[in-house]
Amino acid sequence: MAERGQTKFQIDLRRHLREQAVDRNLTRLITEIAEASKYIINSIRTGDLGVAGTSNLYGEQQLALDVLADRILEKRLKYSGVVASLVSEESGDILRFHPEQEGPYYSVAYDPLDGSSLVDVNLAVGTIVSIYAGDNLLQPGRQQVAALYILYGPRTTLMYSTGNGVHEFAMNQLMEYSLVQEHVRIDGGSGIYSPGGQRNLYTPGTEAFVRSLEERGYKLRYSGGFVPDINQVMIKGKGVFLYPHLQNRPRGKLRLLYELNPMAFLVEQAGGAASDGHRPILDLVPQKIDDCAPVFIGCREDVAAAEACIAAQG
Ligand code: AHG
Ligand code: MN
Ligand code: MN
Ligand code: MN
Repeated sequence: MAERGQTKFQIDLRRHLREQAVDRNLTRLITEIAEASKYIINSIRTGDLGVAGTSNLYGEQQLALDVLADRILEKRLKYSGVVASLVSEESGDILRFHPEQEGPYYSVAYDPLDGSSLVDVNLAVGTIVSIYAGDNLLQPGRQQVAALYILYGPRTTLMYSTGNGVHEFAMNQLMEYSLVQEHVRIDGGSGIYSPGGQRNLYTPGTEAFVRSLEERGYKLRYSGGFVPDINQVMIKGKGVFLYPHLQNRPRGKLRLLYELNPMAFLVEQAGGAASDGHRPILDLVPQKIDDCAPVFIGCREDVAAAEACIAAQG
């Protein structure tokens, strides 16, 4: 197993996927996403910071960068020849293709640029991707065959899982993803918390949970970007992120297909847990492409404590 910190320049993403015995088409899909991320980085660094003048399914104003990152990924995935259907937080509908390669084929749900409103203040943002075999995108997250995120911070991190643990890569000076750490584990206990949403709108159960963390001296570490906030839990190996149900928003804010399922898959693969307050995120059955859910995600103990508070007080 590679030690974190000493970048293994000799193990790039493609080689790692081969060593994990990931099939050719899934390897192709994941490496295409990794290639696309280089163009997304370029857009973030130099692109227009203004609005696109359109809105997405959630009624959010789309930024020019949201639309551009979405197009970059959509094109790559479409021409990969291995994608049967895709949908994104910005696309508004499922796109279906006739893949040209020989099967197996995959379906992809993605958030092209999570945290896009943080780019103008130069905070970290990311891309989140969820992958299913076949062409059905409305399945429980448990059925994912792979998930990954890419974090665009001071460095670029790619974290992926195909169901055999979570593996961390960093972009090197040659703009290639090199292995940093295999089998990332969330087993460092607790101690940090990232509470999303407005505190004055928390329900009594969530309020009791957060108060209990504060009474135990947890440190607040919330950036407003889901990808860096989850990456912190992954790399520190501890802590909990929440974006709960709010009194005026009973389904929370974060989206099941594009944000929660892929992150829940990765966090469970790292030994952590993800819950909507009652049951595992990965067991929720999506009804629509824009379903949202509350989320409590991170180390198992903290997620179990959140469930207990919500069962008692709502
Ligand atoms: P997006 O930029 O893809 O619309 O999502 C941002 C998400 C996530 O990164 C973060 O955890 C959450 O929204 C923060 O939301 P609010 O600042 O609206 O509470
Ligand atoms: Mn958005
Ligand atoms: Mn998002
Ligand atoms: Mn987004």
